[in-house]
Amino acid sequence: MNQKQTLAISPSILSADFAKLGEEVRAITAAGANMVHVDVMDGHFVPNLTIGPDVLKALKPHSDLPFDVHLMISPVDPYIDAFLAAGADYLTVHVEAGPHVHRSLQAIRDRGCKAGVTLNPGTPVESVLGVLDLCDLVLVMSVNPGFGGQSFINSQLEKIQRLRAAIDALGKPIRLEVDGGVKPDNAGDVWRAGADTIVAGSAVFAGGPSKYAANIQAIRDACRD
Ligand code: DX5
Ligand code: ZN
Repeated sequence: MNQKQTLAISPSILSADFAKLGEEVRAITAAGANMVHVDVMDGHFVPNLTIGPDVLKALKPHSDLPFDVHLMISPVDPYIDAFLAAGADYLTVHVEAGPHVHRSLQAIRDRGCKAGVTLNPGTPVESVLGVLDLCDLVLVMSVNPGFGGQSFINSQLEKIQRLRAAIDALGKPIRLEVDGGVKPDNAGDVWRAGADTIVAGSAVFAGGPSKYAANIQAIRDACRD
């Protein structure tokens, strides 16, 4: 049964102006975003450092949209409670971040949050199949995580198709999200491959706040069957 959800655009604030993050979150909310994507990096699992739970907590009052928090950290378990307390609505962990992804997802769900699992471009689909039933979201990384503004890796389209089939076979309303290098010119391919949730950083924040609504709409318009 087709479990594809309504299209959701989740702008990554990694490409926002970090000196004005609250304002930026308000601006993308007003511009028609459906979620707020927060990239958390630890300088260990990925070669960059970004946002911690205190920043998430400070941003939360700036939008009623769900906060879609992508943890690129290892170990992850010691920080789950802090991100949930800070207001994460979806909390997504990398399958490569440790040996106990099942336990991490259970911990997130037990605390009443939506749980997500994600896999790097070099990680096979099979690595997440055993935990799909614990997930509310599966995130396909279409760049190697760590930085915004990279090019989409086309081989990930097949992974999206295979995960769409796996989710439909399971018959649960799990969001299938794609993150990295998505722009209006490839968002249609991503959508038609079976994704329903699109992260975009540089494509949304390009040109400053006066362009956000048009940038989001251009991605939305590209997502046609
Ligand atoms: C990469 C991050 C992405 C990134 C997306 O590690 O997880 O969310 O910010 O940015 P763009 O859309 O510019 O590739
Ligand atoms: Zn991300």
